[in-house]
Amino acid sequence: MSTFQAFYITENDDKTFSQNIIERKIEDLPAGEVLIKVQYSSLNYKDALSSTGNRGVTRNYPHMPGIDAAGVVEDSHSADFRQGDKVLVTGFDLGMNTSGGFGQYISVPAKWVIKLPKGLKAKESMIFGTAGLTAALCIDKLLQNGLTPEKGKIIVTGATGGVGTMAVMILAKLGFHVVGVTGKPEGRGFLLKIGAKEVISREEVDDKSIRPLLKGIYAGCIDTVGGNILATILKSMQYNGLVAICGLVNSPQLPTTVFPFILRGVSMFGIDSSECDIEWRKKLWKKLAKNWKPSNIQSIIKTVTLKGLPKEIKEILKGGQIGRVIVRL
Ligand SMILES: NC(=O)c1ccc[n+]([C@@H]2O[C@H](COP(=O)([O-])OP(=O)(O)OC[C@H]3O[C@@H](n4cnc5c(N)ncnc54)[C@H](OP(=O)(O)O)[C@@H]3O)[C@@H](O)[C@H]2O)c1
Repeated sequence: MSTFQAFYITENDDKTFSQNIIERKIEDLPAGEVLIKVQYSSLNYKDALSSTGNRGVTRNYPHMPGIDAAGVVEDSHSADFRQGDKVLVTGFDLGMNTSGGFGQYISVPAKWVIKLPKGLKAKESMIFGTAGLTAALCIDKLLQNGLTPEKGKIIVTGATGGVGTMAVMILAKLGFHVVGVTGKPEGRGFLLKIGAKEVISREEVDDKSIRPLLKGIYAGCIDTVGGNILATILKSMQYNGLVAICGLVNSPQLPTTVFPFILRGVSMFGIDSSECDIEWRKKLWKKLAKNWKPSNIQSIIKTVTLKGLPKEIKEILKGGQIGRVIVRL
């Protein structure tokens, strides 16, 4: 009977949650079509919520989080995958209510699994992870709707976070003039180094006036934070500005009016990386393996083992992470 190491969350009698590293049996994983030996995972905001008992993400405990995993197929009941295939899984139910990538094995449906594209190593795929895929989905949506570097500046919020960092780097690689928004004093140097042309503070995009519109500055936006920051950016979009939204770390509320949409023709697109079409994902993973891959992605990571996760989870919940945390299994 084979066992493996897992980062395991249990609920205590007093309704608090504990994080421990335990030995689990492969036989105890859910029956799936593809058994994968996980080499790398990564830490996303959602993992931190799942690891601290957030029932909006994970209904039942005990639980093994980790919405991302990359590794090698160990056993497959699907004609699409063979033992030894290098693969990755992000999103769907992985790490939410299905045992996730914070363990040395996962067992998942074949339709969740993507073959690692040529040009991308397992570790690199987890540097992108859900954060990179989400950034890529946002960017692709804006490009599909006509955004080009010539149209003007693009603003990225939560810019030193996982999705934000990836968005800044990919957009810079594609030739955009990127304006990063950060709440961290030390974020400025980091963002300029990874390709932002300008860096502004959160306060500069947190308009408390009741003005329906502000000066139109931005042609595009990738927003990871929501709340009044997103509302301020909507007022600051140029005519026909394009906004892709994916997150809520500032607030799930959006205190806006219809004016940016009906007077400036602004369009806003919602992005969901966990259930989105697998063909769209495959297309974007190929881009991330080639012309969308920033040359400096190794420079924005911190690599930890399962033991290092509790400290990093606390940090991401405080909004304190810069770049991406990679988990080596
Ligand atoms: N829709 C999807 O499919 C999808 C996929 C991935 C993530 N998400 C969501 O996107 C968001 C970001 O995820 P992530 O993994 O990138 O998280 P992250 O690494 O924690 O990054 C979030 C960043 O937002 C900024 N921030 C933190 N607290 C803030 C506050 N109160 N107000 C304004 N800015 C704040 C911080 O950057 P600065 O210090 O630089 O401002 C922080 O580093 C989360 O809400 C996550 O759930 C959604």
